[in-house]
Amino acid sequence: MAAASASDVTNVVSGQQPGLSHVAIIMDGNGRWAKARGLPRAAGHERGVEALRRTVEAAGEIGIRYLTVFSFSTENWRRPAAEVNALFGLLKAYVQRDLARLTREGVRIRIIGQREGLPADVAALVDKAERTTADNSKFFLTIAFNYGGREEIARAARRMALAVEAGELKPDEIDETRLGHFLDTDMLPDPDLLIRTSGEYRLSNFLLWQCAYAELVFMDVLWPDFDRASLEEALAKYQERERRFGAVSPGAY
Ligand code: IPE
Ligand code: IPE
Ligand code: MG
Repeated sequence: MAAASASDVTNVVSGQQPGLSHVAIIMDGNGRWAKARGLPRAAGHERGVEALRRTVEAAGEIGIRYLTVFSFSTENWRRPAAEVNALFGLLKAYVQRDLARLTREGVRIRIIGQREGLPADVAALVDKAERTTADNSKFFLTIAFNYGGREEIARAARRMALAVEAGELKPDEIDETRLGHFLDTDMLPDPDLLIRTSGEYRLSNFLLWQCAYAELVFMDVLWPDFDRASLEEALAKYQERERRFGAVSPGAY
């Protein structure tokens, strides 16, 4: 495996690296960040929103086109109601505060996950963010909220079954591409790079289908401390990888 040269990294950082268009992030470690400071967990989540703002800005400047972040999982309902409510409140506050600016900056916002389980006010705001930015195409910010990879695949299977029942789809036509169109991420390329912060080495049900060939980078930084330098560090690691997609390296024979 070749080490990245400075110019390779510069290429990635300037967005010129072919093949790096979609970065996905599991934003983890807010609670531990707060605990280390004797603060309530909600304070960690608040600082996590600031890290998200920084990261969206840095990703845009670097030339990344697609950024998908894990913000609330279908399993996060297991947390105390007060924490769940704080997380909903923060999503609302983020959209309310940043929507006008993101719209001006050409960001297209999409929320993936199960929409039905969301409180009505959150669902309405999410719809508004998607509608308002629907014509933008400079940068694609996708927020996984009430999202679980298995739930997404099960929901896609259910919709395909309904399409078969309605005579719109034949069982023989179901292949990887067709199934992909039934997922929430239809229209997004698969992530090239998946980053997880906070030193945990797991996917926690994030983009299970889509990350089949993503390069995984696990970092010790807690999400509220994540910044442009952290993103560049992850991109430099990505640059050191050789993506083979099951084939052999050129020169292996
Ligand atoms: C990530 O931080 C935010 C969500 C999962 C909603 P955590 O809240 O999981 O923080 P830790 O992992 O407990 O430190
Ligand atoms: C994953 O983090 C979900 C989000 C970052 C939104 P968790 O903190 O919920 O994951 P586990 O419980 O450590 O696997
Ligand atoms: Mg966590």
